[in-house]
Amino acid sequence: MNSNYLNEKTVEGVLAADRESTNEISGEINVQTATAPYQAEFPYERDEESQVTRREFCNFLFLTSSALFLGSAGFAGKLAYNASFEQKFTPLKIEGAEALAPGSALNFRYPEEKDTAILIRAADGGYYAYEQKCTHLTCPVYYSKPNDRIECPCHEGGFDVHTGSVLYGPPPRPLGLIAIEVRNGGEVWAVGKAAGDKHEST
Ligand code: FES
Repeated sequence: MNSNYLNEKTVEGVLAADRESTNEISGEINVQTATAPYQAEFPYERDEESQVTRREFCNFLFLTSSALFLGSAGFAGKLAYNASFEQKFTPLKIEGAEALAPGSALNFRYPEEKDTAILIRAADGGYYAYEQKCTHLTCPVYYSKPNDRIECPCHEGGFDVHTGSVLYGPPPRPLGLIAIEVRNGGEVWAVGKAAGDKHEST
C-alpha cells in the first residue's frame, strides 16, 4: 500500500479531530489516535532497523568513496547550493497564533492547502513552525508539552522544538522548516520554507 496515500488519510484524520476539538489546537491524543492504524500497517522494530542501518552504512561507504573520485568538486558545489536554498511562497497569516499560550501548538496549511504544518509556541515563548510530516515515513508529528519537544508517534522519533533537528529515533533528517515572521505587534505569518535555522521569536 502506498505510504503517501496512507499519510494523507492520516493527516486528514488528525486535522478533522483537531477541528472537532478546540480551535484547531494540535493535540497529541488526536495524532496518536489517527496514526494507530498506520503503526499497525508499518510496524517498526528498532533491532531490525539497526541491522538495516549498518548494512546501508557499508553500502554508503562504498558508494561514497567511488563518488568522491568522480565528482568531489561538483558535490561540494551542490552542498553550498543546498545550504543557501530558500523558497519563497505567498505569506500567510496563521490564524489563532496570537492567542497561543507558551507550551502549545496548532496546525495550519502552508504553502498549499494539501501541505500540513505545525506552529509551536515553545515553553520559552518563541514561535517555531515546521512541516508536519516526519522525515522517516511521513507520519504527522505533534508537540509534546511535558517534554517541550516534537515527537512522532509511529516509531518513537523525536525532534528539537527550536531547530527541528533529530534528537532520537529513526528519522534521517530534520523536519522541514517553515520561515515565520511576527508582524503588527503579534500576528504570526508564514513567509517561506527554509533549509536552515530561520525562526522569529517574540
Ligand atoms: S514515521 Fe517513523 S519515526 Fe516518524
